[in-house]
Amino acid sequence: MTAYLNHPSVWQESWDRQQEAFMPDREHRFTAMLDAVAAVTEDRPPRLLDLAGGTGAISLRTLARFPGAHVTVLDQDPVLLTIAESSLHDRATIVDADLGDPGWRAKLPQSGTGDGFDAVLTATALHWLPAERVSALYAEIRDALRPGGIFINADHMPEETLPTLSSKLQDQARIKREARYASGASTSWPAWWALAAADDQLAEKAVERARIYPAEDHNQEWLPPATWHIEALRTAGYSEAGLIWRGGKDAAVAALH
Ligand SMILES: C[S@@+](CC[C@H](N)C(=O)[O-])C[C@H]1O[C@@H](n2cnc3c(N)ncnc32)[C@H](O)[C@@H]1O
Repeated sequence: MTAYLNHPSVWQESWDRQQEAFMPDREHRFTAMLDAVAAVTEDRPPRLLDLAGGTGAISLRTLARFPGAHVTVLDQDPVLLTIAESSLHDRATIVDADLGDPGWRAKLPQSGTGDGFDAVLTATALHWLPAERVSALYAEIRDALRPGGIFINADHMPEETLPTLSSKLQDQARIKREARYASGASTSWPAWWALAAADDQLAEKAVERARIYPAEDHNQEWLPPATWHIEALRTAGYSEAGLIWRGGKDAAVAALH
């Protein structure tokens, strides 16, 4: 198949559609996250870490909203990092690191300077890690922030007080998602990866990726509710932690250094 990396926005677009099939309100959560960043920096361009940032969706939106922002995308997926690099060029620092390894911060360019990030944002990613690792990661992220800096995690965080309604909402969302796939409105997760693997410039990266992620089921057996995350953030030493956004089974929790 023809390589489209000279048009990286095309891959960004198809990644966005594929992700929106799972999260139709994905842009709302990004806006809520960046509103909180703007409040903390008083609208100054932030130094922002896009953690497990994939194609750099948060970084692109940060740069669009705050021209002059310094963004760093960290991930370990060679396909998504290649798309991020092609899209962001010299507008971002790209870091290849495994968040499962507590040494990930040593790979950050700032790690030696003592300057912390104004904001660390992550979306739809930390549920790939076991809960014990997420707790430890929260403390490591805090150390990467400047005093007063903000951390936000948007992810699957089911509402434990509404099990029946949540399950019905989830069923409805699944039916709509399947209709989107059937109509071609968006590609499914496996179909998207098959397209990427068929692209001349991404094929080699897709082989590398299969070694990093041999299984495609990234949901842990237990998805902690937002209350668990807020408690874990307080235990990790943040001065404030709480919910800033909810949409269906997903939520965003924020914490201040
Ligand atoms: C569903 S994608 C979300 C990407 C991006 N945040 C977005 O919203 O478009 C989940 C991302 O988490 C990354 N990820 C999962 N586990 C990771 C780990 N241990 N270290 C680094 N990145 C990880 C994956 O590589 C993938 O890019």
